[in-house]
Amino acid sequence: MASGGVTATSMILSALPGMVGELRAEVVDYPRKKIAQLSDLKPDTQVHFNYPDKDPLHSFSFLVKLGTPAGGGIGPDRDVVAFSALCSHMGGILMGIYQKSDKIAGPCPLHLTTFDLTKHGMVVAGHATESLPQVVLDLDGDDIYATGILGLIYGKRDNLDPSSA
Ligand code: FES
Repeated sequence: MASGGVTATSMILSALPGMVGELRAEVVDYPRKKIAQLSDLKPDTQVHFNYPDKDPLHSFSFLVKLGTPAGGGIGPDRDVVAFSALCSHMGGILMGIYQKSDKIAGPCPLHLTTFDLTKHGMVVAGHATESLPQVVLDLDGDDIYATGILGLIYGKRDNLDPSSA
């Protein structure tokens, strides 16, 4: 497959009763990027990659094979997931603090938020109010591709605009 992921649908909802103006959703076309091979993954081990671009900070992301089915998980066991490594609260780095017993990332080194990696990065506890942005994955044979992001990367106004940080 050559095309990237589409994470939203374009539509205009101007005909709803009582609605003033138009409600628009934009089509966002993310790059399709090979980030790992399934056969190389070790259980409960974070693997770093950059996505959606090469920005060393804002594209800092990780992949992990949880060993248990997860929301958005790929592979035969639906247990391979990926997320931004920047805490959604104030950008604390979540690399190296994965807890395999509970399948969570955290506690964040800045204000102690933890995120459930089996439930789309939902906040378990702490200051963050937004889930950890989840990288959408696709499996093609043994190759794992990143194809989109669900949520806004910390510090960005637009995930795909390198100048928006
Ligand atoms: S930056 Fe992670 S909890 Fe504040």
